[in-house]
Amino acid sequence: MITDININKPAPIVTGQQLELFHSTTDIKRTIKGLEAGKPVLITAFYSNGLLLLKELQNYLKKKLPNQTFQEQRVFRAAYQKLSNLILIEIVGHKLIVKKSPAIGWLEQLYAETTDFLLPFPQVQGLNSAWQWYQNGISIPVLRNKLHPYYGTYFPTRFDHLVLFDNWLQRYKGTKKSAIDVGVGSGVLSLLMIKHGFQKVFATDTNPNAIVGLTEFMGETKLSRKLELSFGHLFGAWEKPSELIVFNPPWLPEPNKITNLDEAIYYNQNLFPEFFAAAKKRLLPNGKLVLLFSNLAQITEATQEHPIEKEIAEGGRFQLEKCLKRKVKSSSDKTKRDLDRRAAEEVELWVLTHS
Ligand SMILES: C[S@@+](CC[C@H](N)C(=O)[O-])C[C@H]1O[C@@H](n2cnc3c(N)ncnc32)[C@H](O)[C@@H]1O
Repeated sequence: MITDININKPAPIVTGQQLELFHSTTDIKRTIKGLEAGKPVLITAFYSNGLLLLKELQNYLKKKLPNQTFQEQRVFRAAYQKLSNLILIEIVGHKLIVKKSPAIGWLEQLYAETTDFLLPFPQVQGLNSAWQWYQNGISIPVLRNKLHPYYGTYFPTRFDHLVLFDNWLQRYKGTKKSAIDVGVGSGVLSLLMIKHGFQKVFATDTNPNAIVGLTEFMGETKLSRKLELSFGHLFGAWEKPSELIVFNPPWLPEPNKITNLDEAIYYNQNLFPEFFAAAKKRLLPNGKLVLLFSNLAQITEATQEHPIEKEIAEGGRFQLEKCLKRKVKSSSDKTKRDLDRRAAEEVELWVLTHS
């Protein structure tokens, strides 16, 4: 059952250990030394004391570590992550107990089995922003209703690729009995296909939160009869061929020697070959295989290899029908390097058919 899936969430800490306490008059230098020695510290009195300690920790590390090159930034981030996660905050009765804390509904929703526990402060910050997004919803230009992304689920923050897909669906002339959405995330592509009249969408994700979140979002509504979910790799439980398969895969190759990367952002070298092999079996003879992609990996020099071009050239399974491109609108990035990069950034919609 979908509700039996274990969702990803920050691990609750239950400790009998006496912790060092931190408040506004605590000696900050001594506290940071403690963190460096691996000793956790508990934020007391006000939520803002946690923010204060994080800020001080950041300043301290900035002075201590160089933070210029990509490699240095990575070392900096790792050090910050390690130490900041030793800063803990207490939850009692599913609520943060320090004063002036934000109300975070996830504490009740995700931790039904424990009422009292500790969490690392940065994780609580993550839960807090995720709660705001979930509650307020996110407007997507091509969808009438807001998206309510579940905790720990990918959702789009730029929309150029969605505009491309929406335009393509507008002109799509094929039948609309069923479609498959691989890596459904917060559901945006499935919702678009349903908006354009697809009767049934079969979607998957390897991220349990995506599946649980959408199941909860749909409840017993009409939508739940149009969108069926399967928790699993690539096509999950879906074997039956469809007339349309869509995949908005991760856009960057995973860097070497880094584990625990976000599967919404980074792909490993097997993902595309496995996807195309499985898609070959699940695309109806006149069906369309649509991939949303971008030149981000190429312009950031992560790789010169383009996994879709490679498939078309060497796979022997699919041929190119068309590739639509769209320049990414410049965002509010401030650095010159970011601006140069954004100027060259394009999203791509690839339409493939059986060869
Ligand atoms: C870039 S996000 C796209 C999400 C959504 N389709 C959208 O367009 O906003 C990629 C999604 O694919 C999922 N994913 C990554 N690898 C996968 C795999 N092997 N099988 C199924 N889903 C996968 C991720 O968890 C993530 O939700």
